This record gives sequence, structure tokens and C-alpha cells, in this order.
Amino acid sequence: MKLPMIIVHGGAGAWKDDRIPVGIEYVEKAARAGFDVLSSGGSAVDAAEVCTLFMENSGNLNAGKGARPNLDGIRELDAMIVDGINLQFGSVGAITGIQNPISLARYIMEKTDFNFFAGDNAKKLYDRMIQDGYRREIQAGEIEIPYISPVGDTVGCITVDANGHIAATSSTGGIAKKLPGRVGDSPVMGAGAYANDICGASATGWGEHIMRVVLSRMVVLYVEDGLDVMSAAQKGMDMFERKTGSEAGIIVADKEGNFGYSTNAKAMPISVIRSKADNLQSHACMKEE
Ligand code: GLY
Repeated sequence: MKLPMIIVHGGAGAWKDDRIPVGIEYVEKAARAGFDVLSSGGSAVDAAEVCTLFMENSGNLNAGKGARPNLDGIRELDAMIVDGINLQFGSVGAITGIQNPISLARYIMEKTDFNFFAGDNAKKLYDRMIQDGYRREIQAGEIEIPYISPVGDTVGCITVDANGHIAATSSTGGIAKKLPGRVGDSPVMGAGAYANDICGASATGWGEHIMRVVLSRMVVLYVEDGLDVMSAAQKGMDMFERKTGSEAGIIVADKEGNFGYSTNAKAMPISVIRSKADNLQSHACMKEE
């Protein structure tokens, strides 16, 4: 019995050795927050939002409060949420003045006829979301965790609920020294994340190159073609490195709760929880794995 399950990453990159335990600590806390939602009957989408929002609020990962600023010193945030049941997604790119783009991404997915908003008009939509009462702010731009939970470089997660429904997210401040207005892979469906009724994936790393190979969709396709999820993650990273020579990482989970991960960057903190009986597993996935 592997369901429900959650797998979380805190970003692949050149983590300083003393920061790796901090990354592991926060992905573990985020995994617990998301898993609490799943255990109390929440959907995969509910859990994915809570988990990602926790990381955005941590201030210790490259998303939300802790996001890296662009070359003008401004935090421009990208995020996406994907609902694998119906291939629906909501995305937001280059938004400023808020801390929780993942909740806006979900609002876009659930409450509008569109999928992807960017820039100043995305901020206007955020203001409408708050006015609608869809989410409540605890301070300007910051939203409370929208579900009651016992616990209180790009991030992302995949959640699989007790019915085998899958959701995936990504959220980021983007790569270092990005030009104002640049949007990376994280809000791009199939690149930064992807989920369907069989499998989900979430990518991290150099977005320009992740988009070139549509990394998350490719890894899910490998699973649809019969590969186990760990082999699919490794095959995805091999393909990515061969075609782009760049650095990235990927996490993947299927509808049965099997999971995989791989990176060719120095490190990628991950955490996994599967079913109530299963122990939490957290470690940094290293390049050599
Ligand atoms: N993968 C995050 C970015 O390139 O923005």
C-alpha cells in the first residue's frame, strides 16, 4: 500500500555543503504539510498547493519569500499547478508584489477560462482572487495556508491521493542574473511540470534548456511507454544532458505511488512520504546517484 504519497524537491543546483541540510529540512517539512492534507482526505491538488505554499513561505528556498531577485533587484515569480485527472493547469509568469504564486496558479486553473497570466495583469488577477475570498491574505501579498494542517533553487512536488489522482507543481524566482521579464520553464506546461492520469513529473534547473526538451512531459512519456519511474527519471536526465549539456533535476511519481528522481547538478534535496505505514525518506539526491 503506497498511497497516498508525496515527493518534493527543493531545487537542483550547486548547493553549498552547509546549505544542503537546510534544504532537506524544508522539503521534509513541506512534504509533511502536504501529506497531512492527503491523510485527512484532501485531493492531490489540495496537497500540492499546501506543500508548495509552505516552501514559498519558508524563505529558505528559491521561491516566494526566498526567491532570487532579477538583475533589477526585483522578485519576479513563476509558478504552475497541474491537475492530472483532466490535464488542466494554471500558470503565472513574471509576477511581482506577491509571495504565493502557486495559489494564484490554482485560481487561474479553477476559476478562469484561461491557463497562463503574466506580469502586471497577473497581479490584478491576484487582487481579484483576494476580493473573491478564494484565499485570505495574512499580510500584503502573503496567503495563509488554505487548509488546516497539524504542522503548522525552484521548488516542486508531485502528490498522488488515495484514489491514484496525481497533481504536480513548480514555483521559482528563476535563475541567477535573469533579465527583467524573463520567464523560465517552471510555468510552462510539459517543461517545468506535467501530470496526467498515469504519472506526474516536476523539473528544476536551467529553464531555457528544460523547455528545449520539454523535460517533464518526456519523462512521463517514458513511463507511459513502460519504463519504471526511476529508470524514466534517469533516462530523462541522460537525454537532457546529451541534448543540451546543461544542468537540471527531475522528480517523478506514478498513480500507484512509485517514485523516481535524478539530477546531473551537484545536489537536489528531496523528501518522500508514502502511506501512513511508510517512513518519511529525505536526502539530497547527488549527481553520482
Ligand atoms: N527552472 C527555473 C528557471 O529556469 O527559472
